Amino acid sequence: PDIDARTLSIVNDLKGLEGPLLPILHEIQAEFGYVPEDCLPIIARELNLSRAEVHGVVTFYHDYRRHPAGRHVLKLCRAEACQSMGSDRLAEKVKALLGIDFHETTGDGAVTLEPVYCLGLCSTAPAAMLDGEVHGRLDDDAIADLVAEARR
Ligand code: FES
Repeated sequence: PDIDARTLSIVNDLKGLEGPLLPILHEIQAEFGYVPEDCLPIIARELNLSRAEVHGVVTFYHDYRRHPAGRHVLKLCRAEACQSMGSDRLAEKVKALLGIDFHETTGDGAVTLEPVYCLGLCSTAPAAMLDGEVHGRLDDDAIADLVAEARR
């Protein structure tokens, strides 16, 4: 897609909103799957912000991807209920299995690992989401299966 033209049209559609930056970034990520670097100067110019301001917002919110995602996106819940049920340890295990950290994608482009802050599954913590499908009560075996599924 023509990033510049699509960005401009998204910005023009939404810049009349009060506090347009977040909706614009959201729409850009929906369009491209991530927020391409090239969009930032266009957004800054159109909203009369500095590039640093736009950049700051993009990096502040964990929901915005800076790079295209892999074929599968695995999100691990990092919020309180899951933490109390061992999600930190689970996260270490997933990172080791995939050989990547949060916000990274495996070298073969198969899996992107992202944190998420509560999936609404606290009663079945620890929880994760693979490609939009939620999974609860994850133990070592279940998370290894999920990682294997993501790698396929
Ligand atoms: Fe993990 Fe709510 S804290 S699902």
